[in-house]
Amino acid sequence: MSALLRRVGRLGRSLYARIAVVYLTSLLLLSVAAAWIAISQFDQLGRELQQRQEIDLADNLARVMRPGLRDGADSDAARQIARHIASINPSLSLYVLDAEGAVIADFTASACGQGRRVDRDALETLLGEAPMLPVLATSPCGGRPGVFSVARIAYGEARHPGYLYADLNRASHASMVAMLRTSSITRTLIAAGLLALLISGIFGLVWFALLTRRFSQLTTAVQRFAEGDYGERVAVPRDDEIGRLAGAFNDMAGTLEAQLAALRETDRQRRELVANLSHDFRTPLTSLRGYVEQLLERDEVSPGERRRALSAILDNADRLTRLAQQLSTQARLDAYDRPLQCEPFSLVELAHDIVGKFQHQARQSGVVLEVVVEPSLPWVAADLGLIDRALSNLVENALHATPAGGRVRLELEAVAEGVRLAVVDSGIGIATEEVPLVTQRFYRTRGSQARGEGSGLGLSIVREICERHGMTLSIDSRQGGGTRVSLLLPYALG
Ligand SMILES: Nc1ncnc2c1ncn2[C@@H]1O[C@H](COP(=O)(O)OP(=O)(O)O)[C@@H](O)[C@H]1O
Ligand SMILES: [Mg+2]
Repeated sequence: MSALLRRVGRLGRSLYARIAVVYLTSLLLLSVAAAWIAISQFDQLGRELQQRQEIDLADNLARVMRPGLRDGADSDAARQIARHIASINPSLSLYVLDAEGAVIADFTASACGQGRRVDRDALETLLGEAPMLPVLATSPCGGRPGVFSVARIAYGEARHPGYLYADLNRASHASMVAMLRTSSITRTLIAAGLLALLISGIFGLVWFALLTRRFSQLTTAVQRFAEGDYGERVAVPRDDEIGRLAGAFNDMAGTLEAQLAALRETDRQRRELVANLSHDFRTPLTSLRGYVEQLLERDEVSPGERRRALSAILDNADRLTRLAQQLSTQARLDAYDRPLQCEPFSLVELAHDIVGKFQHQARQSGVVLEVVVEPSLPWVAADLGLIDRALSNLVENALHATPAGGRVRLELEAVAEGVRLAVVDSGIGIATEEVPLVTQRFYRTRGSQARGEGSGLGLSIVREICERHGMTLSIDSRQGGGTRVSLLLPYALG
């Protein structure tokens, strides 16, 4: 019972109920107004028809009364004829008016028009050329203005001009009421009106129900979405306001779902990164530890062995340092806490420094690492620390991807806009479909994932460094055909 009451209460508060009430009320008011206008027009039409039909009545009566009127307007002869007419049509009120419209003979039973007058303008209007019907006048006996018939007459010996006035009003009114009550046209009209009211009422209510049902569907979808069903979408059958709202909801849901998927993916990559990093840290640390233990345990170590062990320790320490640097650069780029510190410097010197730094590693892997440079290359302006990091990452990647017997070159070339720097290797290359992906954070190629190496941070750091400098990074690579990564640094001014 209480559930039913709650449902009814909710329906009462619903948009549908409010629209329905407003609609039905206005429909009702509109119908009343239309009925009122129709009835008054009907009444007006009735008067017009009556006046049109009986416009010649006064003329005909004047002809009948002419002999009596010759004796005078109020003569016995005239009254005799008037009584005769009244006996034929008792509802007719007949008066003789003088030229000014004043009553000079009242032939009604009550003689209520004695001493009164009728508006002469109304009389002349009806007698005029093609009058606009109905022409109304207040009868000598008073009451509402009504229809009449009038004829010019002459009365008395002196042939005074005057009017014979026949009041059609009383008869007309009675017949109007009767007509409303008994006319089949009126009944049909009323029935048709009620039917139209019923149909438009039902039609409107059904239409609003369909309209608000689409709102309810939308609300349900939004609620489901809010509860975590991110795949929830609404059908958009029509391109109207509700359809567009539904479309906007679908778009919003799509964007949120995509963002959520991206967040989940980043989270997955982050977790993978932590796993990789711990592996990346553990491998050199284990190796380091092995060499140190070896040196500690053995009392007699040949200078050659000692040298090899120490150089391996140094290599592993370098690897750890690079990894730590990579992470701190990424963190710094993320935090945006360090503004660019642009300064003029020689790219040739930097290239040689980097080649020096990686030369040992290159030799060990049997790879030729060299700088190819134009003589007298102008200086460039950039953030030296960041460019150093970017170049180191590129060379590290190139060496990593190049098997023994291959070569890695740092090419520097002056062009119109600045110095083009390219790191070119003859290594394993990158599959065409992976080229656009390798600069994404945490992205590692399928091969490197299979080998379980890398963090996928190196190239994303390079890309971010280029973006912060306003430079574009281009990667040219083919599976098994080597890789060329290049960027353009602007000249130092002056
Ligand atoms: N010169 C290259 N040749 C072949 N593969 C490369 C080269 N440079 C980068 N890659 C591959 O692109 C991916 C992204 O590189 P990077 O962002 O530096 O991550 P990582 O830390 O794994 O090296 C890695 O899987 C890497 O193996
Ligand atoms: Mg790398």
